[in-house]
Amino acid sequence: MPKIWDSVLLLPKLARLASRVPKNPHHAWENYWAGITRTGKDGEVLWDAAAESERLSYLAPIKEHFDPALPVVDVGCGNGTYTRWLATLFPQVLGVDVSASAVRRAQAEAEAEGIRDVEFAAMDAVGDGAGNLLRERLGGSANVFLRGVLHVLKPEEQARLAANLHTVVGEQGRVFLAETNFQGNRFEYVGHLGATRHGIPHPLRRAIEGLPMPGHFGQPELTGVFPDSEWQLLADGPAVIEAVPMKQGSVTEQIPGYFAVLQAN
Ligand SMILES: C[S@@+](CC[C@H](N)C(=O)[O-])C[C@H]1O[C@@H](n2cnc3c(N)ncnc32)[C@H](O)[C@@H]1O
Repeated sequence: MPKIWDSVLLLPKLARLASRVPKNPHHAWENYWAGITRTGKDGEVLWDAAAESERLSYLAPIKEHFDPALPVVDVGCGNGTYTRWLATLFPQVLGVDVSASAVRRAQAEAEAEGIRDVEFAAMDAVGDGAGNLLRERLGGSANVFLRGVLHVLKPEEQARLAANLHTVVGEQGRVFLAETNFQGNRFEYVGHLGATRHGIPHPLRRAIEGLPMPGHFGQPELTGVFPDSEWQLLADGPAVIEAVPMKQGSVTEQIPGYFAVLQAN
């Protein structure tokens, strides 16, 4: 059957699922995380493939640009998969997320893995004063790690988050970000992740029916959100964001992405 029919048949399904998403994005994230029972590669969280290959691809830019003496904050940490990894590289690591359920899960997963040198806190990183709160909590400038957060925020929220991060990094800290940057329409995106007219893989279905619709974030978006007047771009390039396997056995889904490292002016 031609592809157009896949779209035509998938459209009402996607619309029906998306109509269930809570209007308030903070409620949506909290409901989503409160309902999650299984994380990691075999779990229900679409982006939580916990792939070593993805971590390794971030290692060189992080080691090159982060001052190891500074604390690191993982903004929008979710269940803390990357926070736990950062704790193996840096002495003081804090994960923050708008969802209290995500933070509880992150704490429990860190404890289960015996990782003690890591803290978590519930916080709206977009909210007024979040930058100063983080600075106070961390005792000054910090490095910032962000994975898959900007592309789930609206442009005005992205700008407010960038302003807060400007406060957090101060003169010495840096921002490392990695975001999905899929170039294509919604049908192409869900199709890339395994949705067909016959069915939608469970982790993808949970995201579609529970979360605000994601966008993409690449170099053009970066220029708007982190303008030259406020930020200096130190490094950037393509990335591969790995999602849980949904098409073939244990092979993670590879989503085209973008990474960047920034310093505040
Ligand atoms: C796509 S998930 C990525 C999670 C994690 N960074 C990872 O890569 O595993 C986006 C995360 O951002 C969090 N988030 C969304 N809006 C936020 C906000 N305003 N402040 C803090 N966290 C937020 C969500 O709760 C969610 O955990």
